[in-house]
Amino acid sequence: MPLTTLPTAEALYQEHVNPQWVRLLNVLDMNVRYTRCQGTELYTDGGRRIIDFLSGYCVHNAGHNHPRIIGALKEELDRRGPAMLQSHVPELAGELAERLCTRAGGRLKKTFFCSSGSEGVEAVIKFSRSQTGRNGFIYASGAFHGLTCGALSLMGDPFWRDGFGPMLSGNEEVPFGDLDALERKLATRQFAAFIVEPIQAEAGIRVPPAGYLESAQALCRRYGSLFVLDEVQTGMYRTGPFLASQNFHADPDIVVLAKALSGGLIPCGAVLMSDEIYDSVYGSLKRAIVHTSTFSENALAMRAGLETLQVLEQERLGERATAMGDYLRDRLRQMLSGYEMVKEVRGAGLLNGIEFTAPRKLKLRVPFEAFMKIHPGMFGQVVVMRLFRDRGFLTQICGNNFLVLKAAPPLVVEEREIDAFADAVRNVVELMHSSSAFWTEALGLARRVAGV
Ligand SMILES: Cc1ncc(COP(=O)(O)O)c(C=O)c1O
Repeated sequence: MPLTTLPTAEALYQEHVNPQWVRLLNVLDMNVRYTRCQGTELYTDGGRRIIDFLSGYCVHNAGHNHPRIIGALKEELDRRGPAMLQSHVPELAGELAERLCTRAGGRLKKTFFCSSGSEGVEAVIKFSRSQTGRNGFIYASGAFHGLTCGALSLMGDPFWRDGFGPMLSGNEEVPFGDLDALERKLATRQFAAFIVEPIQAEAGIRVPPAGYLESAQALCRRYGSLFVLDEVQTGMYRTGPFLASQNFHADPDIVVLAKALSGGLIPCGAVLMSDEIYDSVYGSLKRAIVHTSTFSENALAMRAGLETLQVLEQERLGERATAMGDYLRDRLRQMLSGYEMVKEVRGAGLLNGIEFTAPRKLKLRVPFEAFMKIHPGMFGQVVVMRLFRDRGFLTQICGNNFLVLKAAPPLVVEEREIDAFADAVRNVVELMHSSSAFWTEALGLARRVAGV
């Protein structure tokens, strides 16, 4: 076949993977081809440099394509060792599990490895039932725990659930931060566990009220339910400490990690748990492999995890997340103060959100309300699109709160990049408050997406 008639990679993707995703990227003017990604920088074949303030939803804590993690993976491939034999003791898994449990501390002594956050949450469901002999789970409003059927049963947003039911039975939602509601449910002693993100990411970067996690944990212990923390986005030094819950002095029964665990190059998840929970699942020889997964403990994922931990620690990226996060929130607050549509800048370490709100002034309220009627999800997307197209920053809004823009760069981000980002956000926010062209374009975009 002559070269010119070969289908492009994009055409193949459209034909055989997900044409709607390509359409969406096109509508948002974000369909570019990336040729090289390094640290915080993404280069396109059109010669543009984009700065990443999304980190693939908190995957790239160590920065894109860290040379040491790439080096470790190359070495592992060259070693030609037993990558997935399923018939030996994978030595790297023991080493990584020991390091994760040591850093997590408390009662977390055993690890189940898997390949994604959702798969980790599925393990939580089975293990918690096994340990407590109870069926149901309590989850928080706005939670995001993954899109497999079990994980989806632990989050309430109909956007993700509709058309995929029935969900697992016996689960109940409580408002995030509401201890009375939690206690009322726990007191029925029907629930295997309460699962919660220490800082809710997709709900809009919701930081818990003071004392919430500690008290929730105490209530779980009182009523015989497990206290499970989903640290899939918040873990691996994203908010400063190894686990975000370490800022709150929690001592959970189970912690789920994934995303940044393996340096953004190989899928890997880990469920850390107490010996008692492990024993309830694997307590006899007969049950040695009662819960497993083919890719669990594979050598490349384990090696990536070990090297990622070393990079994060030797480059002191947790401390950097704390310092740079403080700087980012300060800069954003300075730049955005006085704009009526900016409600709040909040977060911890480098997991941050800018919450927008409906305007009061009539001049802004009319286009905002028209816009919200056509497609409520699109307001934040217009900000994302403008930051990308006009200012060269990759961001996203929160999956369960379309009025919150995420600011979560790789932990290697520099002050000058934060300054440029804060300036870019201010520029888009200024347009939103002063330019009719902003609203004309936004309404056009919302109509195209809604198919009006
Ligand atoms: C807090 C949290 N838990 C679980 C998941 C599911 O992880 P995965 O997409 O790897 O299945 C996500 C994904 O975004 C998440 O943010």
